[in-house]
Amino acid sequence: MRRSLYYGFVAVALLAGGAYGAYAQGGDAGAGSRIFSSNCAGCHGSDGRGGERAPNIATARNIASLRDTELGNFVRNGIPGAGMPAFSFLGERGVPDVIAYLRVLQGKTDAVEVTGDATAGRVLFFGSAECSRCHMMHGEGGFIASDLSDYGSGVAPERIRSAIVEPEKVVSPKSEVIEVRTAEGESLHGVLRAEDNFTLVIQLENGRYRRFKKDSLADVHHTGQSLMPRDYKSRLSPKELDDLVSYLVRSAAPMEPSAPREKTGDSQ
Ligand code: HEC
Ligand code: HEC
Repeated sequence: MRRSLYYGFVAVALLAGGAYGAYAQGGDAGAGSRIFSSNCAGCHGSDGRGGERAPNIATARNIASLRDTELGNFVRNGIPGAGMPAFSFLGERGVPDVIAYLRVLQGKTDAVEVTGDATAGRVLFFGSAECSRCHMMHGEGGFIASDLSDYGSGVAPERIRSAIVEPEKVVSPKSEVIEVRTAEGESLHGVLRAEDNFTLVIQLENGRYRRFKKDSLADVHHTGQSLMPRDYKSRLSPKELDDLVSYLVRSAAPMEPSAPREKTGDSQ
């Protein structure tokens, strides 16, 4: 059976360097997390879900379904010509470690069952917890933060919990909150979406964008903080948190156990 180009490449790499396929599995995710932050996060994003320079390798199903050996070869050899550098210098330990961490990001290692009540979680999401003010869930909710409809797919429940109660640790702040006061005395706060020497573009909570000439502003305050509230740890009871996590997991499309990453129409 013919595989995609990448698979072809992997197969060649496996043949060329027989030893490559044989490294020990079961790396140390803790060590891998440090390797990931310093070597991978710059392109793939701190949560592996993609950045400006590289795709999502955490929840993209075609990647999550690759075997450790296949992932190892991508990491060691890179993808020449496609912007993915080779990381063979990470060595016999570093590569399995970073893959172990990638599995954590993919939610594969965490067998934690979600025990909360998803229906109650939904009520919280759209009700007193106010998540829907900012987040969209299957077409309902706010615009300013990420759409969480599929977020729970393939993410460890533990990680979802952290994203809610300790976002400063887990969530990459793509949304710095900025406060401005115009010369006319109007105060606004929103997410800084663009800035150059002369202008600022802010996205307000209702999703609208406002562009300001800097010299028309009386005051600009960069908070350095994400818009994701940081007080859910105290606002939500452990049960409520479980319910929300269950809601996010259950309402996401289930992850295919082994989505084939195979040929697209080339001959067999
Ligand atoms: C300089 C930017 C950059 C860095 C740093 C980087 N990558 Fe990548 N990576 C890419 C790009 C670009 C692709 C997509 C290549 C393509 O498929 O076109 C990619 C693809 C991948 C893939 C998926 C291959 C596929 O099937 O599409 C994996 C897995 C991966 N990278 C893992 C890592 C790991 C682990 C690290 C850190 C050790 C890392 N990358 C560091 C740019 C980077
Ligand atoms: C005031 C707006 C706001 C509210 C309310 C809010 N969030 Fe967020 N949330 C954000 C923003 C913005 C981000 C993305 C991080 C960033 O861009 O700084 C985020 C990130 C997240 C993430 C991580 C998503 C990712 O892609 O990494 C999760 C999960 C999440 N929020 C869940 C919730 C839940 C559950 C609630 C309700 C209990 C909630 N949020 C309430 C604004 C909000």
